[in-house]
Amino acid sequence: MTDPAKRLTILSGIQPSGNLHLGNYFGAVQQFIQFIGEGHECYYFLANYHALTTVRDKGRLIELTRGTAADYIALGLDPARAAIYVQSDIPEVCELQWLLTTVTPMGLLERCHAYKDKLQKGIPADHGLFAYPVLMAADILIVRADRVPVGQDQKQHVEVARDIVGYFNGAYGDVLTMPEPYIPENVAVVPGRDGQKMSKSYNNTIELFAPDKVVKKQISSIVTDLAKVEDPKDPDTSTLYAIMKLFCTEEEKLYWADRFRAGGLGYGDAKAAVYDLYMRKFADMRARRRELDEQPEYVDEVLRQGAEKARKVALPLVRDVRAAMGIPNR
Ligand code: ADP
Ligand code: TRP
Repeated sequence: MTDPAKRLTILSGIQPSGNLHLGNYFGAVQQFIQFIGEGHECYYFLANYHALTTVRDKGRLIELTRGTAADYIALGLDPARAAIYVQSDIPEVCELQWLLTTVTPMGLLERCHAYKDKLQKGIPADHGLFAYPVLMAADILIVRADRVPVGQDQKQHVEVARDIVGYFNGAYGDVLTMPEPYIPENVAVVPGRDGQKMSKSYNNTIELFAPDKVVKKQISSIVTDLAKVEDPKDPDTSTLYAIMKLFCTEEEKLYWADRFRAGGLGYGDAKAAVYDLYMRKFADMRARRRELDEQPEYVDEVLRQGAEKARKVALPLVRDVRAAMGIPNR
């Protein structure tokens, strides 16, 4: 257990907007588990208010929210040691978001990539997408998080939260806690099957909980060059090797890098090895996930208790913010 004096508050969330994939695991969930193991105070939630910016099918959102909660538990987020909850069960985040918007400059949000990319593509953006980083700041600040484990693509949003703390505390005194992103170098960006960043929205994922056959197909469609079996292959430029090494010990990384370089390793065989490594890592979690499908009441109870725990810190925080701003707490 971590020395209580060094116990940090950790918070992160994932949008229930599609099926979880290797990028989510190595870029985020693996670090969620690490912080739980180190004995910190952990809050991990499903960002269903954020998901509304992309999912407009009510049934699908309900299903994805419950499914992603089961995914979290199956992947090893222990409900006894971390609060696991749904964002909308802490509706005060929306109130805090409004309070924070009043100190957030437009320019700060205009620079954010999710909104900027959409505008650049000529797609009209709605206000939800524009305000998205302020809601994310509210998620973080409402539990007084010290660290926010995320992948590289979310770094900018955590920086926005930090800027907002600066503006708010500058205006109203030292009320909010300054969070820091936590992004380990080696997993900051997990490549997808096509070599771009793996993302639900690029159709290039390798999923964590798809049926075996689908996973096999996804792995076999990782892009490779036209090298023949006997040709030496450069692991440093290979997407297949970049994905493979996520699963490997240091020793195994060297072993496979040598086999790539030596020639004689066909891509088909290398992909079969990736499938085996994937199953070595995820087979138990996938079995647990199937069990959880039969236990919806258990998942609901975890979410209820998680929300209760998060609200215990969220409500007083919002009261403090209101008081600091001159909004009465009756
Ligand atoms: P997606 O891009 O698939 O929609 P999300 O935005 O829901 O993924 O991401 C949830 C978490 O997983 C975030 O912390 C994000 O940074 C992380 N993440 C997603 N894709 C990757 C990736 N390819 N590499 C590293 N981290 C990732
Ligand atoms: N925006 C994050 C994503 O798309 C999800 C998220 C919402 C989040 N609120 C957060 C992540 C607070 C960390 C902290 O991945």
